[in-house]
Amino acid sequence: MSLLKYFSPLMLLLVLLVFVASSRGAKVVEVGEICKQSKNVSFCITLLNSSPSGKDLVSLTQYTIDVAHANVTNTITLIKSLIAKSVDDPKANAHYKTCLFYFVVEGGALNAIEDAQQCFNKGGYDGVGSSANQVYARVDACLLGDDGPDPGLTPFPDTSLLPNYADVIKQVAHIILFLSHLLIGD
Ligand SMILES: *[C@@H]1O[C@H](CO)[C@@H](O)[C@H](O)[C@H]1NC(C)=O
Ligand SMILES: *[C@@H]1O[C@H](CO)[C@@H](O)[C@H](O)[C@H]1NC(C)=O
Repeated sequence: MSLLKYFSPLMLLLVLLVFVASSRGAKVVEVGEICKQSKNVSFCITLLNSSPSGKDLVSLTQYTIDVAHANVTNTITLIKSLIAKSVDDPKANAHYKTCLFYFVVEGGALNAIEDAQQCFNKGGYDGVGSSANQVYARVDACLLGDDGPDPGLTPFPDTSLLPNYADVIKQVAHIILFLSHLLIGD
């Protein structure tokens, strides 16, 4: 006996409408489709596949913001230890201090990822995208040392873990940017 006989056509319509309304943003997405746009496809796929929550756009975006936040926090800890270790090397010390500036100043990388979270909470996905861009730009400014408190600084030949950490943040920020575009277009 079909369950359908218990549903009036009107009720079926209602069920359908509720389903359509709740699928906005909750659409399950193909990780490979999202990551096609990424410069580092395998990094992107590994990251998004490690999301313990749902595979819908909203959950993936929240997860990716969490990862970026954790990575920014780790990197600030790393930079502080590099500053402490480089007291006898003024060039290196100046470089790491410049980096710390770009991470913790108002509008710096930490502030920007917190802004991304706040915009996300309000459903302001364009704000999520522009905050992710800001994270990317601030991390780049740390690496390049340009346009900072010491504009004359040339890129420091950094052999510490910092360039790797910074590269991870840039990649994660880029993925947040894709996700925000997909959410806006959803
Ligand atoms: C970035 O965060 C992820 C998730 O917390 C972690 O697995 C990864 O080791 C972090 N990488 C860096 C460079 O902080
Ligand atoms: C992809 O990203 C990972 C992590 O940052 C890095 O180790 C790897 O070399 C990158 N691959 C390419 C092709 O850029």
